[in-house]
Amino acid sequence: MMNRRPLIAGNWKMNGLSTGGLALATGIAAKRKAAPDVPCDLLICPPFTLISDVAKAVAGSGIAVGGQDCHAKVSGAHTGDIAAEMLKDVGCSHVIVGHSERRTDHGETDAIVKAKAGAALAAGLAAVICIGETLAQREAGETFAVNRAQLAGSLPDGATAANVVIAYEPVWAIGTGRVATPDQAQEVHAVIRAALQERLGAAEAGAMRILYGGSMKPDNARELLGLPDVDGGLIGGASLKVEDFWAIASASA
Ligand code: PGA
Repeated sequence: MMNRRPLIAGNWKMNGLSTGGLALATGIAAKRKAAPDVPCDLLICPPFTLISDVAKAVAGSGIAVGGQDCHAKVSGAHTGDIAAEMLKDVGCSHVIVGHSERRTDHGETDAIVKAKAGAALAAGLAAVICIGETLAQREAGETFAVNRAQLAGSLPDGATAANVVIAYEPVWAIGTGRVATPDQAQEVHAVIRAALQERLGAAEAGAMRILYGGSMKPDNARELLGLPDVDGGLIGGASLKVEDFWAIASASA
């Protein structure tokens, strides 16, 4: 098995005002500085309004900062949208694309997600591409097919292990407290890796990180992060508390 360094990513979603957001970022940076040997990479994805300040607050800590979405176009008449280059400009190295909440709330299709991921790569950002089945799809026995199809449709040309991270987030596990069992997570991650291998070859597929997301918490992180094809976590609720986020990062050791 390849030696993939875990990535522990916090997705703050639409949470955080300046004071609390900065305190959260500086708290995480302090934990990282006090324990630089914890063997994982850290990424935090605040709302757009906090990115610039958070990037300054964590500068020098080794913590990466990402956006939660970007537009597929480079610039232009797209009121309310943010281009990948703008994220890069304020200190981002990553951007999440295709989160299930974007797919649901904003009707984002695989084709749109692919275009956004391509725009991220073109701007020099790494794309964290989210896929995952709904409960109805799981109960209909469509889990593997749905994830394969979303992956095939969302992965941009030029994807490599250096510029793309996949996040498997079963929709029924997001924000519900209902976490995938280790068996459920591992089998889908293995299917995703096999699909990546068909598309990108063994070397890139073996090196690409596949994160699990959906109710990852301090008390279930160690088991999930210990699975052979789980290379980190995309964490929502538990990324909003310094202690919880750090406990998850520490569980990657
Ligand atoms: P959750 O969210 O950890 O709150 O379930 C995960 C995500 O949506 O990225």
